[in-house]
Amino acid sequence: MAEYVLTATKSNTRPGSFYDRIERFYDLTFKLNGYGRSLDQYFEAHPLPIFPDARILDAGCGTGTLTLALLRTLKGPVKLMALDLSASSMATAKKYVNKNNPEQQAVRFTRGNILALPYADEAFDLVVTSGVLEYVALDEGLSELARVISRGGYLLQLPMRPSLVTSLLEMLFRFKAHPMSKVSETTDRYFQVVSHYRFPPFHVIGWSRSAVLAQKI
Ligand SMILES: C[S@@+](CC[C@H](N)C(=O)[O-])C[C@H]1O[C@@H](n2cnc3c(N)ncnc32)[C@H](O)[C@@H]1O
Repeated sequence: MAEYVLTATKSNTRPGSFYDRIERFYDLTFKLNGYGRSLDQYFEAHPLPIFPDARILDAGCGTGTLTLALLRTLKGPVKLMALDLSASSMATAKKYVNKNNPEQQAVRFTRGNILALPYADEAFDLVVTSGVLEYVALDEGLSELARVISRGGYLLQLPMRPSLVTSLLEMLFRFKAHPMSKVSETTDRYFQVVSHYRFPPFHVIGWSRSAVLAQKI
């Protein structure tokens, strides 16, 4: 059974305060490891299943690496929201979005907890999430994400796979990867998996993450 060093609950927001302290270190680490470029290549090979004016949420946007990759890949207008517990991570994400937004998409940032999202049921056509579910109990996190996705809408998650690199990241960033069997089993409760992508081993994020696209059933 996984042990969470920093497990958020619906009313406890501690991981946000942790990221408020280490946000610069996290941002620099993930800038240097080519995470953004790997996301660009993923989106180029796997266009997102969305339509004009689609409602999209980046749940746990942090300093915005995935939000920015979305802005680079999205053509045409969408309604993009980004949410995180950490106010200072979101301030950095906002700064980057203001500078790097080729299509001038509006992005609305909200401070909040993925276990108690401040959105109505079925409010989104696509939710993307990376590096966040590892801070919470998986079933609670996925069921809350499923709640806000419309029927037939999609979830793109980038789960951390247990590996040596993941163990190092777990110590640095105080999370615990969920076993992949648990990720599959829990995802299957709410979604039908469309694709499960392994980043190539020469991509640094390939040492620790996969990308799972799933449709809400
Ligand atoms: C590893 S970072 C990932 C950030 C970003 N998604 C990315 O891919 O770079 C984890 C982020 O999750 C946020 N976080 C942790 N638990 C959360 C929760 N329960 N609700 C919302 N955000 C949370 C932290 O504040 C932090 O910004």
